[in-house]
Amino acid sequence: MTLVCNVVGARPNFIKMAPIVLEMKRRSIPQMLIHTGQHYDAQMSQVFFDELGMPQPDVDLGVGSGSHATQTARIMLGLEPILVEHQPTLVVVGGDVNSTLACALVAVKLGIAVAHIEAGLRSFDRTMPEEINRVLTDHISDLLFTTEPAGNENLRREGIAESKIHFVGNCMVDSLRRHIDQAIARAPWQRFGVAPREYGIITLHRPANVDEPQQLERILAALEQVARRVPLIFPVHPRTMKQIGKRGTAIRLTEPLGYLDFLGLMARARLVLTDSGGVQEETTALGVPCLTLRPNTERPITIEQGSNRLVRNATEIVAAANEILDGAPRAVKIPALWDGQAAVRAVNVIQAWLNEKRDR
Ligand code: UD1
Ligand code: UDP
Repeated sequence: MTLVCNVVGARPNFIKMAPIVLEMKRRSIPQMLIHTGQHYDAQMSQVFFDELGMPQPDVDLGVGSGSHATQTARIMLGLEPILVEHQPTLVVVGGDVNSTLACALVAVKLGIAVAHIEAGLRSFDRTMPEEINRVLTDHISDLLFTTEPAGNENLRREGIAESKIHFVGNCMVDSLRRHIDQAIARAPWQRFGVAPREYGIITLHRPANVDEPQQLERILAALEQVARRVPLIFPVHPRTMKQIGKRGTAIRLTEPLGYLDFLGLMARARLVLTDSGGVQEETTALGVPCLTLRPNTERPITIEQGSNRLVRNATEIVAAANEILDGAPRAVKIPALWDGQAAVRAVNVIQAWLNEKRDR
């Protein structure tokens, strides 16, 4: 029996891996779902299983938080005996978090093939932990599933064999398309006492923005200026909550939201201010203006065709937000293959690969 191990660990993994897990289930491909436990609060983990209709993990490694080395090592130590016992044919990892690299590394060292969902993205900023995870995971993967043409070009330039690269589109957008109607029907803005298109949303969790108190303070002060013109709702990531503490603010802070409430809020927002990778893509898919509080992005198509724009400092944040609030929304072109069928295309490739491997 050829078994596939699908791995998840952190919030964005659940959203981009759910369509893969569900498509394999639909085709009765034997699979195991492994949760590393990198994210563990109910609002950072269980809520996504419930709302995305994902099966409960077969194994939860329960690694929790720690330094990069501690977390990565714990995941590796936890996963190795599971893979040795079950001898899967393929391990599928997604995105760019520590769980992604740790699991890919364990698999490849055991001689097990690795598939990487969302391969090829590059910020070219090696101070980001995610960039290290992306580059290393891609170079030890056998099947690389890309979301946008820049990903294909990056992989080619790095010498990855063309036969390994499969441009399938965006699995995160598969989840979005599947759940958008249900998300809007919940009218989550009502809970915050605001009307559609009359509020903004914030998410922030990049270490470069939130770990250093003065940097975070500069960003919050700029966001508070924006909040004088439009109510801003900020579901606060636990990393960021540790830093914000009890600081008073005109911004409406709330706990991390479940997928459906967050998606519904995003869909009807006037603007979104974020440093999230996934949110840059979702706002492009929704045509909602997005300001990304970072000097770079690994997702250039969201700027070239989508609704995204980079803002590098407090002055740029306020000026760009004012432009959005004063202007008509910019026309957005939905990127190629962001059509809700990315997981179907990826699983087509995986199934053909499994069949070839079995018949060899
Ligand atoms: C991780 C990923 C990042 C991704 C983000 C998505 C890495 C290196 N970083 O960052 O790429 O964008 O997830 O959200 O893998 N915490 C809780 N409860 C939880 C999870 C975390 O309280 O359920 C707190 C802990 O104090 C922890 C901190 O958040 O130390 C950071 O968690 P961690 O998983 O290390 O990194 P993230 O910032 O979440
Ligand atoms: N998200 C959510 N609730 C929130 C904030 C974000 O469900 O309160 C979703 C969001 O829609 C997207 C994903 O989480 O699908 C992005 O994850 P995150 O920003 O944590 O990680 P990144 O994409 O930056 O790695």
